[in-house]
Amino acid sequence: MRIGTPLSPSATRVMLLGAGELGKEVIIALQRYGCEVIAVDRYPHAPGHQVAHRWHAIDMTDPKALRALIEQERPHLIVPEIEAIATDELARIEAEGLAVVVPTARATQLTMNREGIRRLAAEDLGLATSPYAFADTLAELEAAVARIGCPCVIKPVMSSSGKGQSVIRSTADIATAWEYAATGGRVKGGRVIVEGFIDFDYEITLLTVRASTASGAIETAFCEPVGHLQKHGDYVESWQPQPMAPAALALAREMADKVTTALGGRGLFGVELFIKGDQVWFSEVSPRPHDTGLVTLATQRLSEFELHARAILGLPVDVSLRTPGASAVIYGGLEATGIVFDGLDEALQVPESEVRLFGKPESFTRRRMGVAIAAGPDVDTARARAQQAAAAVKPRLG
Ligand SMILES: Nc1ncnc2c1ncn2[C@@H]1O[C@H](COP(=O)(O)OP(=O)(O)OP(=O)(O)O)[C@@H](O)[C@H]1O
Ligand SMILES: [Mg+2]
Repeated sequence: MRIGTPLSPSATRVMLLGAGELGKEVIIALQRYGCEVIAVDRYPHAPGHQVAHRWHAIDMTDPKALRALIEQERPHLIVPEIEAIATDELARIEAEGLAVVVPTARATQLTMNREGIRRLAAEDLGLATSPYAFADTLAELEAAVARIGCPCVIKPVMSSSGKGQSVIRSTADIATAWEYAATGGRVKGGRVIVEGFIDFDYEITLLTVRASTASGAIETAFCEPVGHLQKHGDYVESWQPQPMAPAALALAREMADKVTTALGGRGLFGVELFIKGDQVWFSEVSPRPHDTGLVTLATQRLSEFELHARAILGLPVDVSLRTPGASAVIYGGLEATGIVFDGLDEALQVPESEVRLFGKPESFTRRRMGVAIAAGPDVDTARARAQQAAAAVKPRLG
């Protein structure tokens, strides 16, 4: 693997499709290896725009706009950071040999829609998942809920970050859940999935890396499991390592291996799993760094972003854990542009803590504007530290 000189004819050009806080960290990692990075998002001054060689704001779901930009910039690698992309166009671009899509165009097609990845995992690979059914109308939803039983979770098939998602306890809630799903999906009024509610003990993200070995073969490596807490469909806290029964860990790795092998290519994946005792259910997978994996900025020798950068560049990886640690999200708490953050000095007085502010131009009450991360002698200490540091940071009107 050779890397050229940025802004010269030999440059190794990488295009990020989506330039949020996760993309920003991937870009920083790529910049350190001397890549030329082009960051794309739907709005100007996105976090990743601010650290790239060049940036663009386009509608990435528009196949024509996407192709025109790729033909203009001629990246060697295309790295999707979000799901809302014209993935069929990416598949054509990959097939034409115009660029390599990370990890593969097919992986981005399958994971942008809950139906694609669920059918692959449950029906083709035989992984344990919650029982599920799909519905396109209210009548079909009623039939689906009758089949799956209550409690169950209703989600638009095309949505992320918990948008349009609700748990229903009785059939009386079906119509409300249908309405709610219709407003939260990327396609208005589109298909929903009904999933049986899994009463798990805890949930994890198993960060799984497919990277080249010295012989050129692709090997799969697993980070220590990341535990996390979700509220309103969004992660609020994560920690690593999450202690697991050996049988559950072995099963989790086997499932992550199967699903990432099926998606193929090189890169880091976030495999979301539910655990109860020795039982493991596959939930979903991101073919890219995962928000709960922000904790690895504190815990691993190479963060999930550095692992992704290395893997996609064909470089070897090292998934070793350095220390227990935790992350806690800093929300905007107000609706305004150009906000300021007080209390950083106080936050950083917390032992072994670090704060990342993403630089998003506009704050919303429930928008993730930053994250506090902390190391510690054990996960409990690290969690307390991360929460303390996050709480000290006070977003205010600018
Ligand atoms: N079938 C289920 N049983 C129990 N809990 C569930 C189920 N499905 C989802 N959840 C809970 O809701 C959270 C979000 O669900 P899911 O990951 O499917 O949504 P998402 O919109 O893709 O979220 P994100 O984009 O943040 O990963 C899960 O992490 C889990 O806590
Ligand atoms: Mg999820």
